[in-house]
Amino acid sequence: MLYLIFLILALLIIIPTAVAGFIGAPLALTKKKQLKEIIQQAKIKPTDIFYDLGCGTGRVLVAIHKQTQAKVIGYEMSPLYWLISVLNLKINRVPKNKGKVYLKNFFQADLSKANLVFLFLMPKPLTKLAPKLKTELPQGAKIISYCFPLPSLAPYLTFTLKPPNFLPVYFYKV
Ligand SMILES: C[S@@+](CC[C@H](N)C(=O)[O-])C[C@H]1O[C@@H](n2cnc3c(N)ncnc32)[C@H](O)[C@@H]1O
Repeated sequence: MLYLIFLILALLIIIPTAVAGFIGAPLALTKKKQLKEIIQQAKIKPTDIFYDLGCGTGRVLVAIHKQTQAKVIGYEMSPLYWLISVLNLKINRVPKNKGKVYLKNFFQADLSKANLVFLFLMPKPLTKLAPKLKTELPQGAKIISYCFPLPSLAPYLTFTLKPPNFLPVYFYKV
């Protein structure tokens, strides 16, 4: 019986979470203080549609919606983190028409409605994602890449977070 429970857990949770960590990035959360600085620079409007590709526990989505009223969309491949994201949006009273999290690989996401995309991913998936962002995002859409730059795109703004983080944030326009 125990083996069966473990097998089901492995199939439903552990394996997809490990795959997401391998093909995109393992879970590492953007801290609230860092987010505040990023939001200040991003100048997000309530009419914006914000995507977090690999949204983890949904904390970026919640913070963006709370501080800007923008519509927020997340993609998460790990069922465990996806469930936490869904609950996080619910607990923080993000209205259904203003926030949604998809349990889906972001390489299969429809990005045609996004005008602001947030990425906290490893260099390899960023390289793979760059052509999709360039072809699918509407003209004028912005991309924020936290920690690592997007190859083959020139940022219009780069800044380093305040100490003790010192991590770079890259802003792009399509
Ligand atoms: C570094 S964390 C970032 C979490 C969140 N964006 C934040 O800044 O707090 C990366 C997340 O992306 C998810 N992920 C990785 N590859 C993915 C893929 N191809 N599709 C959907 N989610 C993915 C991982 O499961 C992980 O939760």
